Amino acid sequence: MPLVSNKVVTIERHIIEQQERSNGATGDFSSLLRDLTLAFKIINREVMQAGLVDALGATGTENIQGELVQKLDAFADTVIFRAMDHGGHLCAMASEENENILPIPKQYRCGKYVLLFDPLDGSSNIDVNVSIGTIFSILRRITPEDIPGEMEDFLQPGYKQIAAGYTIYGPSTMLVYTAGRGVYGFTYDPSVGEFILSHDDIRIPERGSIYSVNEGNYHKWDRQMQNYIDWAKSDIPEEDKKAYSLRYIGSMVADVHRTLLYGGVFLYPADIKSYKGKLRLLYEANPMSFVVEQAGGAAHDGKQRVLEIIPEKLHQRTPLIVGSPKNVEEVERFLNAG
Ligand code: AHG
Ligand code: MN
Ligand code: MN
Repeated sequence: MPLVSNKVVTIERHIIEQQERSNGATGDFSSLLRDLTLAFKIINREVMQAGLVDALGATGTENIQGELVQKLDAFADTVIFRAMDHGGHLCAMASEENENILPIPKQYRCGKYVLLFDPLDGSSNIDVNVSIGTIFSILRRITPEDIPGEMEDFLQPGYKQIAAGYTIYGPSTMLVYTAGRGVYGFTYDPSVGEFILSHDDIRIPERGSIYSVNEGNYHKWDRQMQNYIDWAKSDIPEEDKKAYSLRYIGSMVADVHRTLLYGGVFLYPADIKSYKGKLRLLYEANPMSFVVEQAGGAAHDGKQRVLEIIPEKLHQRTPLIVGSPKNVEEVERFLNAG
């Protein structure tokens, strides 16, 4: 993947340039994405401070302003809502942290998009200083304009997404997004407060030698899935196949990000306890699948392309197999082997 060397491109400039290239773009969408990056910067600041909170004596139940200290995922949820509710671009939002869709407050204009998000992904890793992330998905509304958005605006298949992406709060913070014309990665420079283009036109390797799955669930999977994993970790001289490496962080954003750059496959299959898998279709699987497909990868649920699933419920789950096209094909071969 070519590293950008001769030009400093902020995410704002990139979005504007992309917009200029697409006929009929109104600028609405660009400013929506710009608003989102502000929310990510605020969440990033808070994530970076998380480990210091104890040391500075601000935990317990109250912070220095006498406000309740929120859990980081609830904080991120509020920040995104507040950054996005008044821009005039959205007609409703939905997030992992809220059972129902979130209307735009009455005093603000309703726009033509809906936003879905997982405010903090990998929350079990928050307290141990391991990478976590935020995932987002943007759809164009299907109900008439100028009225509040409705559930049907959210229940659209993933191929209808007009943009999606994620921020990863890791050793450095990165924002990766697609608006349907390739995948771009920006690294956050905290000294200037900007996301700078660092990964231009990301392409996933066609095949990788890493599999990523919670193998502690092995005995809950069906035989076909077990067979695939057994195969993945075997040396098979006749097939000229070496055992794959296992990497599993437990933050989907981080596991899929690594898969995007190094290749391989990330799986969260169905099992006897979670017969539909664990991950949520609309704000986890769909946006990550859109990004990976746009980078030349594939995403399946074991039966069909994830982006073609017709959603029935806001928080519905789906099994997920996502990554390099050849690796996803291999998994499919095992799952279809009867
Ligand atoms: P969230 O923190 O938003 O609830 O998502 C956690 C998800 C995902 O990030 C990760 O891939 C998966 O849960 C890990 O699940 P296991 O602990 O079952 O492996
Ligand atoms: Mn999540
Ligand atoms: Mn979450």
